[in-house]
Amino acid sequence: MKTSNSIAATMYHLSKNPEKQEFLFKELKKILPNKNDVVTVEKLENMKYLKACIKESMRISSIAVGTMRGSTKDIVIGNYRIPKDVNIMMPHLMIGMTEEHMIMPNKYLPERWLQHRPADADGIGSAEDFDKSTAVKPHPFVFVPFGFGPRMCVGRRFAELEMHTLLAKMIRNFKLEYNHGEMKFESKILHRPVCPLKFKLTDRAE
Ligand code: HEM
Repeated sequence: MKTSNSIAATMYHLSKNPEKQEFLFKELKKILPNKNDVVTVEKLENMKYLKACIKESMRISSIAVGTMRGSTKDIVIGNYRIPKDVNIMMPHLMIGMTEEHMIMPNKYLPERWLQHRPADADGIGSAEDFDKSTAVKPHPFVFVPFGFGPRMCVGRRFAELEMHTLLAKMIRNFKLEYNHGEMKFESKILHRPVCPLKFKLTDRAE
């Protein structure tokens, strides 16, 4: 369920940001030249822009609102005294959307997650968006959609493989649109879309 909601959120953000979807299509066309090419582990390794798009979607529409930890003894963290048996919440969704921690938090900029500046000649990613969004590196704990430490998500690798494979095949072969305004999300224990996923998929010519 968490995986399917994260996939739906990525489909939505790519639909609403067609120029980013086109960058992704170019990357996938390069790695999967034929529409029925099989996605392999080696090929997935090179899909850097795909992974950046998924990360950016999970930042804006994190399925987990946050993670909780209970203190087992009195501790002090960052000058705050936390007594034994108090629950502490790490609110992923909120932290990743604050200007204090993220440059232009309301913009969908997969480039912020790329290791290298996109080369204009490749046509995969915007060098300008890379420069703007990576001017200050975010704190490593600002983005932890699968949690952290001994109790982090054990299904992470399964979920990532499923998201990468499905989205690689889908965006390689279809152009995505969402023509129903803004998608509605519900924030309870999980943050997830609560409206019909009425995407329009148009077959790519080649
Ligand atoms: C995009 C998909 C997914 C996301 C975003 C996600 C996220 C999370 C998060 C945030 C936690 C809490 C981690 C913490 O407290 O530090 C968690 C725990 C967990 N997840 Fe996932 N998850 C996903 C998919 C899956 C899948 C596919 C499986 C199973 C195959 C799975 C199994 C689990 C289990 C068993 C735990 C509890 C681990 C523990 O308490 O020791 N998750 N997940």
